Amino acid sequence: MPAIFSTAPGKVILFGEHAVVYGQPAIAIPVTQFKAKAVVQALPLAKAGTIHIEAPDINLDTDLSQLPQTNPHARVIQLVLDTFNIDKPPSFLLRITSKIPVASGLGSGAAVAVATIRALSSFLGQPLGDDQVCSLAFEIEKLHHGTPSGIDNTVITYAKPVYFIKGQPIEILSPTASFTLLIADTGVSKATSETVAQVRAAWLANPSEYDAIFNNIGEITRAARSAITAGNLKLFGQLMDQNQNQLSEMDLSSPELDKLIQEAKKTGALGAKLSGGGQGGNMLALVDESNQVSVQSALKNAGAVSIFSTTIP
Ligand code: MEV
Repeated sequence: MPAIFSTAPGKVILFGEHAVVYGQPAIAIPVTQFKAKAVVQALPLAKAGTIHIEAPDINLDTDLSQLPQTNPHARVIQLVLDTFNIDKPPSFLLRITSKIPVASGLGSGAAVAVATIRALSSFLGQPLGDDQVCSLAFEIEKLHHGTPSGIDNTVITYAKPVYFIKGQPIEILSPTASFTLLIADTGVSKATSETVAQVRAAWLANPSEYDAIFNNIGEITRAARSAITAGNLKLFGQLMDQNQNQLSEMDLSSPELDKLIQEAKKTGALGAKLSGGGQGGNMLALVDESNQVSVQSALKNAGAVSIFSTTIP
């Protein structure tokens, strides 16, 4: 039997991170320059019931039986087997590789889960549809983030720009003009689970202050949805700056992020903000043809460890 593989893209959040966990809307796009890949291959000569997992990027090379049930790879395999009520699967090897940097706001955990669910369900002869893939990947997000909104697994499963509100049907966005974003990495890793927990603790301690911030971000995101569909680049940039101010109010920025954001703005970016969990990871700068090259070199000089561009749509 030939090996079966599936890939899934990374993502960036354009507007609404963190507030989305509390019911506000958020906007995210897939990033296809980075992908996670899962390959499932039968092991006909192995002992019955063998499930072997290789993930060279994180130095994992082990049998499933050696992993704790809370391990995301173990959990995703078990979830797929449970979905089909399979107790005794054929022996197989799952090999996972990912070019998506970990703990940098680009959705690596969700992408690995989506690719694995698709490859394994196809290997078992019952390929799952997008809605089921998305809801199983959401279970894995809970292991990664604690209290996720579900935006990462959603944008990565459907691989389209989305306007997302927790618990509501997703809306696919269709921009009328193209937007070019530079995505620059601070080189500082920060687990999203940590910043999500920090915001939750601060919200519990100060509900009225935090609810007001979440509401402001919700308004910014609703305005951004109109700016995207109207192709209004200038307004889109201004809203990015406003969103960044609200994220800073919640202590989610960092000196490295602030430096990249300031330099991007100084060299003409139309807007700039952190993306994802914050306190590290990646930032976004909205550019046009006239300033893309200068913003890119300013980001590099300001210490970005990698920079790439993506265009919506
Ligand atoms: C993480 O990519 C986005 C957060 O809003 C968390 C979530 O929505 O689950 C920070």
